[in-house]
Amino acid sequence: MSRLLITGLSGTLAPHLAAQAKAQGITVLPWPRQTVSPDDTAAGELFLSRMRPDAIAHLGMGSEAWAAQLAGYAARHALPLVFTSSAMVFSHEPPGPHRREDPPQTSDEYGLYKQRCEAAIVAANPAAAIARIGWQIDAAAHGNNMLAALDQWQAQQGEVAASRAWIPACSFMDDTAAALLQLLLDRSSGLFHLDSNAVEAWRFDELVTALARHFNRAWQIRVHDDYRHDQRLLGNEACMPALSRRLRRP
Ligand SMILES: NC(=O)c1ccc[n+]([C@@H]2O[C@H](COP(=O)([O-])OP(=O)(O)OC[C@H]3O[C@@H](n4cnc5c(N)ncnc54)[C@H](OP(=O)(O)O)[C@@H]3O)[C@@H](O)[C@H]2O)c1
Repeated sequence: MSRLLITGLSGTLAPHLAAQAKAQGITVLPWPRQTVSPDDTAAGELFLSRMRPDAIAHLGMGSEAWAAQLAGYAARHALPLVFTSSAMVFSHEPPGPHRREDPPQTSDEYGLYKQRCEAAIVAANPAAAIARIGWQIDAAAHGNNMLAALDQWQAQQGEVAASRAWIPACSFMDDTAAALLQLLLDRSSGLFHLDSNAVEAWRFDELVTALARHFNRAWQIRVHDDYRHDQRLLGNEACMPALSRRLRRP
């Protein structure tokens, strides 16, 4: 693999993947959404034929049609493709932990969107890899990041409310990025559950307490049990290091 196209490169997670790919000598090609609209199929095909990627990581948001286009291109050119889906394709009902063979079920709008993208990708390219991931964590507390969200809760609500009945699917971004890159290097296909909490099953209140200590946050933590969900994503435990590799459990 020498030319990796990454969509969503100005987002939160994709820069981690790009950094790891570059460290391995791989050229990273961004999708320039400002000049090549993901909704313009013809422009997209022209862009792809000019860029000649030999692998695709689809991390950008955007339509199911765009996901299908990327997956179709990868299928026609026999390229590995990984798409980042989400634990949100499941909800607390039926209860988790969630296995790859469980039919996704949710009424959440974002979760339904991810379900549609997954279906579009499978239809266009049965050899694609679909990686469901949980809430991402990183020290640089910005973007779509658990640490940033907890900082925001504290700033806006004067507390961080943490359910002890919620076992979140979650991972550190660098670990997720490494696993995504490995899926591409291995030319993996099918559905993957990438969750650093799959085995250890930390409760959300434990995780918040550990994050506060690790990242030196003076959050006012209020433990409750209003939200009940074992959200863990099971099935690919070997692909991800456990949370205890990064944090000390309280
Ligand atoms: N962060 C998490 O905790 C988490 C958890 C579960 C799943 N995920 C999934 O992982 C992927 C990356 O997450 P992230 O946190 O990096 O997301 P993010 O910070 O929201 O970034 C997503 C990127 O997608 C592109 N984008 C935004 N709106 C778009 C649109 N309408 N059409 C096409 N592209 C659009 C933008 O990049 P460009 O401007 O460069 O195109 C944007 O920066 C996403 O698919 C997300 O759903 C993330």
